[in-house]
Amino acid sequence: MTQTRKKILVTGATGTVGRQVVAELLARGHEVRALTRDPAGAGLPGEVDVVRGDLTAPDSLVPALEGVTGLHLITFGGPYFAPLETGPRVMEAARTAGVRRVTVLHGGGPSPLEDAVRSDDGVDWTVLMPVEFMANALEWADGIVASDEVREPFVSRLSAMVHEGDIGAVAAVALTEEGHGGQEYVLTGPELLTVGDKVAAIAAARGRAVSLVELTEEEAVARWRAAGHPEDVIGFLLEAYGSTPEVGRTVVDTVEKVTGRPARTFTQWAAEHASAFAATAAAGTA
Ligand SMILES: NC(=O)c1ccc[n+]([C@@H]2O[C@H](COP(=O)([O-])OP(=O)(O)OC[C@H]3O[C@@H](n4cnc5c(N)ncnc54)[C@H](OP(=O)(O)O)[C@@H]3O)[C@@H](O)[C@H]2O)c1
Repeated sequence: MTQTRKKILVTGATGTVGRQVVAELLARGHEVRALTRDPAGAGLPGEVDVVRGDLTAPDSLVPALEGVTGLHLITFGGPYFAPLETGPRVMEAARTAGVRRVTVLHGGGPSPLEDAVRSDDGVDWTVLMPVEFMANALEWADGIVASDEVREPFVSRLSAMVHEGDIGAVAAVALTEEGHGGQEYVLTGPELLTVGDKVAAIAAARGRAVSLVELTEEEAVARWRAAGHPEDVIGFLLEAYGSTPEVGRTVVDTVEKVTGRPARTFTQWAAEHASAFAATAAAGTA
């Protein structure tokens, strides 16, 4: 099928998901403009039109939106994913610019920006609702590289974690093809994994054993506090990991239905990121 080349503005383009939205749009032959507060540090592919803008200052989006037909949005605008209050103005700027399709990355909680997108009947909007990102496993990289060890609470919890590339692929399809307006897409990977399953996949990918040490809830809270996390974030982590909601531990086939290819596995993800977990020369060999 020949597709018309579209021009899409991606916000959060330097983030975990946004980089994948950019990559998947480019792979499908579309033109990408990327919004960032720091163009010099964006590190995006050369063919991307990188522009400065800040979602907390919607006027800065007006030039960025010129000539685009699709818009990918995040719902936060600062540290610890503080919800953006600028939704109505962002959507007004998008409508004025002639944007036809919008994807929004659901943040897991109430969001005035997401509400503004959903209540806009002048655009085809799609809400992307991923469960836990596979990329969260990168938080283990330092401990694995330093001491071949992962220290985590709730190690038997199940997660349907999703490859961030698949979130990007679903966004790219929804932004450029018909039939995704008014949809909420829960996005998962193809299998349920325990923490032990993930650690085993990383060990296989790096070719060196990794031991898993289970922390008590108290030890985990002390570690999150020591890392400087605010109490509400710690509460969120305890809830998400200690009593993962059913949606987070139920596999669905949305990725395959929307993109036409199976959702990527954590084994694939671990192989792609093996270098982040590789032992340093100083650590020797197993
Ligand atoms: N981690 C998970 O397992 C998980 C699961 C489900 C949903 N989520 C949700 O996913 C979202 C996080 O996505 P992510 O991990 O891809 O984010 P991320 O890697 O933390 O990236 C943050 C992005 O937000 C941009 N940004 C922040 N404030 C901005 C502002 N005021 N104006 C413009 N851009 C701004 C940054 O751009 P610049 O710094 O370049 O300006 C950067 O591109 C959250 O809403 C979270 O709740 C996460």
